[in-house]
Amino acid sequence: MRRIYLDYNASTPIDPAVAAAMLPFVEQHFGNPSSGHWASIGARVALDTARSQVATLLGCHSDEVVFTSGGSEANNLALKGVFFKLREKGNHIVMTSIEHPAVVEPCRFLERLGAKITLLPVDATGRIDPDDLRVAITPRTILVSVMHANNEVGTIQPIEACARIAKEHGTLFHTDAAQSAGKIPTDINKLGVDLLSIAGHKLYAPKGVGALFVRRGVSLEPLIHGAGHEAGRRASTESALLAVGLGKACELARDLAAMERVRALRDHFWTESQKRFGNRIVLNGHPTHRLPNTLNVSFVGRIGAEILARLDNVAATTGSACHSGRVELSPVLKAMGIEPGVGMGAVRFSLGRATTRDEIDTVIAQLADVLAAAG
Ligand SMILES: Cc1ncc(COP(=O)(O)O)c(C=O)c1O
Repeated sequence: MRRIYLDYNASTPIDPAVAAAMLPFVEQHFGNPSSGHWASIGARVALDTARSQVATLLGCHSDEVVFTSGGSEANNLALKGVFFKLREKGNHIVMTSIEHPAVVEPCRFLERLGAKITLLPVDATGRIDPDDLRVAITPRTILVSVMHANNEVGTIQPIEACARIAKEHGTLFHTDAAQSAGKIPTDINKLGVDLLSIAGHKLYAPKGVGALFVRRGVSLEPLIHGAGHEAGRRASTESALLAVGLGKACELARDLAAMERVRALRDHFWTESQKRFGNRIVLNGHPTHRLPNTLNVSFVGRIGAEILARLDNVAATTGSACHSGRVELSPVLKAMGIEPGVGMGAVRFSLGRATTRDEIDTVIAQLADVLAAAG
């Protein structure tokens, strides 16, 4: 059986153009970008270019981009950075009940330091109601963090409306765009956000690199203190190698045409599955406000992990890859109020640039065999 990769929300392969852009920084340009001599020039110029490529994707200024080690660090810097800077002003943070652990856990940590956290509920499709945010904000609220798109079900949140409400209350707004960047538009001015996180390995760049957009005028306490790298927001010698990878990936991600092809394949997967399996499968997530590559379906009355175990040539996941291996209902599906009998049968298929129609048809045929064998 040929191997089929349908786990692009867990990680993407490095795009060949990204790898090619990085190669000179593996082989030649080793200099420290902060040094003032000939050996640093290549790295320094590349770092500047990469920063402007990230900025162009997000529609921000280059000096508003802070390179990080990934999406988790970007989220940690946003949440802890704001808390430590503004704790005199307030200690209240609002987030949703379906955030990724890279937001949930920093908030849990901050709770131990005196933060008060409010969780916004989601409906059965995984969307929050902006009116709930309006009610949740208090004079002590210093930050609202709402993920742009969910990693498990792909539901896209009404970020513009939520950011507007935060602004009306003079509260900073952060969004975790690790899953949305490169799949849907992530222009910070259209979204109206103050802080936005991206993760390289979700958009065809390597693991170990990400970025946080920090709007001019927003001041954060760094997580890593040291020399003045990243305009004093993150100490440690910048990796031109990784920044170049992220920059090139962001340049490629501006063209969302490839995602329309992926959307068509994803829709074909769902319509064909419905024809074949009828009411034995249900869709998890919002029918339209959803990432174009994500199909999370429940095989009613079955266990998603058992289905995947029989499709061992197919890379997909039963929950989020970051916490797979658990057999209990995922916290995201639980927060959406999905019944255990349905939620336990959930499988997330996430498609990417290299996915073909033939692969999708093969997986549907295999699923039909597995379900038939199970009776
Ligand atoms: C929504 C979301 N946020 C943050 C992260 C963490 O990103 P990284 O693995 O780059 O730290 C992930 C990764 O799964 C994610 O899906």
